[in-house]
Amino acid sequence: MIFDYVDDNTREILEKKGSRVRNMFDRIAPWYDFLNHFLSLGIDRYWREKMIRRLKLQPEHHVLDMATGTGDLAITLVRNSGCSVTGMDVSEKMMTIAERKVREKGLQHKISFLPGAAEHIPFESGKFDVVVVAFGVRNFTNLDQGLKEMLRVLKPGGQLAILEFSKPVWQPLKAVYSFYLFHVLPLAGRIFSGDKYAYTYLPVSIKAFPQREVFLQIMQNCGYEVTWYNTYTGGIVTAYYGKKPVK
Ligand SMILES: C[S@@+](CC[C@H](N)C(=O)[O-])C[C@H]1O[C@@H](n2cnc3c(N)ncnc32)[C@H](O)[C@@H]1O
Repeated sequence: MIFDYVDDNTREILEKKGSRVRNMFDRIAPWYDFLNHFLSLGIDRYWREKMIRRLKLQPEHHVLDMATGTGDLAITLVRNSGCSVTGMDVSEKMMTIAERKVREKGLQHKISFLPGAAEHIPFESGKFDVVVVAFGVRNFTNLDQGLKEMLRVLKPGGQLAILEFSKPVWQPLKAVYSFYLFHVLPLAGRIFSGDKYAYTYLPVSIKAFPQREVFLQIMQNCGYEVTWYNTYTGGIVTAYYGKKPVK
């Protein structure tokens, strides 16, 4: 559980998540894309591109985009490689927006969506060549179970790639980023989306999430091998990679 890696105060806030996470994303769904691009100054698109470039995807690959949200990663995957994507998420409101975007872009033959949670993936073992998650694992109710389920549905030798917020490594950025995260972002998020909880939960969940080497260790404990990470934008975001053992 993610709760195993955090202090008592943070645990109290996160323990309330579960269904709250789904309700929260259902509520902010209409604002999600705008706030995502606005609050990240549009860099979120660059982070997704960077993460998937390393995967060397082929048109015949079938990819599971877990916690697909409004589908930006699924769309980027198809545009970059021509692969097929299944998007899955606990929030149907987020996926309704994703479906609309995919239809507007004429990509429905390449991308399909299915409601579901990472902790119980309704697919047989060994189905996917690649599983990706962008800004989603931080929200899982049970991190270990989610990682193990994603491993199960990967083919032997298949890859997992995870993009997640992290604490900056570059010292001058730390204070500015912390102020932005805990003061500017909750205020801006509340003004635009009208949701008090969502953008207060965001910085707390980022702070609580296991970072870099610790997260790689968790991936290894869950059965992944050849694990490594890349940091972007001074460490604000980290991409994690791992493989399912062949045997
Ligand atoms: C911050 S959004 C990220 C959406 C998208 N991947 C992106 O890059 O914009 C996180 C998403 O994770 C979903 N989510 C949270 N917990 C989940 C779980 N246990 N299984 C599947 N999806 C989950 C939420 O509903 C939400 O749509």
